[in-house]
Amino acid sequence: MPGGWEADALVIFGVTGDLAQKMTFPALYRLERRGLLDVPVIGVAGRKLTTAELVDSARKSIERAEGSVNDAAFERLASRFTYVSGDVTSPEPYPRIAHALGGRRRPLYYLAMPPSLFAPIVDELAAAHLVAQARVALEKPFGHDLASARALNRQLNQVLAPEQILRVDHFLGKEPVIELEYLRFANSAMAELWNRDSVVSLQITMAEEFGVETRGSFYDKVGALRDVVQNHLLLVLALVAMDPPVGPSADDLWDKKVEVLRSIPDASVHQYVRGQYDGYLQLPGVAPGSATETFAALRLEINNWRWEGVPVFIRAGKRLPARVTEVRLILREPPRLNFLPDPGQVAPNQIVLRIGPEPGMRLQLSALSEESAWRLVPLDTIFAHELGEPLAPYERLLYAALTGDDRYFARQDAVEQSWRIVQPLLTYPPPVYPYPVGSWGPPEAAELLAGSPPWQQPWLPGT
Ligand code: BG6
Repeated sequence: MPGGWEADALVIFGVTGDLAQKMTFPALYRLERRGLLDVPVIGVAGRKLTTAELVDSARKSIERAEGSVNDAAFERLASRFTYVSGDVTSPEPYPRIAHALGGRRRPLYYLAMPPSLFAPIVDELAAAHLVAQARVALEKPFGHDLASARALNRQLNQVLAPEQILRVDHFLGKEPVIELEYLRFANSAMAELWNRDSVVSLQITMAEEFGVETRGSFYDKVGALRDVVQNHLLLVLALVAMDPPVGPSADDLWDKKVEVLRSIPDASVHQYVRGQYDGYLQLPGVAPGSATETFAALRLEINNWRWEGVPVFIRAGKRLPARVTEVRLILREPPRLNFLPDPGQVAPNQIVLRIGPEPGMRLQLSALSEESAWRLVPLDTIFAHELGEPLAPYERLLYAALTGDDRYFARQDAVEQSWRIVQPLLTYPPPVYPYPVGSWGPPEAAELLAGSPPWQQPWLPGT
């Protein structure tokens, strides 16, 4: 829901870095192709490059991402580019950035930079009088614990009003994540089931079959809990568990999400299992004897009227058997089927939202087979078949950021609440258990679910 602000320029800090090359350029190109881009693009980085060289590297990264490039669309995009090189932590390049802006007063500054540079860059922009009507988009991580997230917010708030800060978490740009709000509230069949009367537990799985590979020196300081649970998965949980927003604004939506996060008590170290895949310690950049987790599983509670007594189980890990991210609601068992000659207990229904790959929804039913025994019958929908190809997350987020649509950007209180929830696990990390590559993590993760249905095999594409 655009809030009246619209960018008149896009300034990308860190334009020669990995993120800009892999995500930002292809997203800009797709927007250009669809006729949705109409601002100049100013790239800023330390390397000495000409604008022509920047255009050249943009073309290469777009070719890599898209397979082929439409020349006319690329030419239009290329004609928007200017490059400014310099040390962004000093005042030196800012007059040149101002010159490139040519009097435009509502730039979107996109910081594809390490978080340690967020505050220094924003301070320099302010000193150069370039932020009054601007907005600043920041890529996660927003801090590395609760104290540093608060400190970062305090620093940014010295120069920027809260609505000028857009915190980018690419999960919030994923179509199935956005779809959740609609599926839940536009369908009474879902809305009626979505509470403690019908649901016995909630499982969220984010499995990746690849490992840390060349990201050892980054990942070893982070671990699975900080990398994907504190941000992506807790924000997904907030959307799964929230009450309906009262209006269409970003604040209406975030008020409801934050209410859920506030209802979640601090996580307990006794309900947290950490794992590390065999071979992780041999990766370049990983500290000798490192105890960083590549797998995290935890149990949370939501203490509100809708969810009290329904445990939430979250697991995320690298080098697991498959790549799949899903949310699963396990419903109550029905009473025994006394009308059958042999009344057995049938399996409970489950609702699965697959966030990726191949986003979709599955309703797992029970039906009677020819052999007079019940069988699980899946009712599946694949969103791309029904709803068309979605926008890529970065395309959606960049467009939203440029057009003043704040709904997809994490609000400060949501970020602080999610750090608050996981903080005890960071302060008192339990031991890390090894697990074999290609397994579902250490067996200890199963113990978290004592008294609830066990971890379910995720719904994989094609099954
Ligand atoms: C990133 C994490 O934020 O999300 C990565 O740093 C992870 O470790 C990635 O692999 C997963 O994103 P996606 O969109 O591929 O599921």
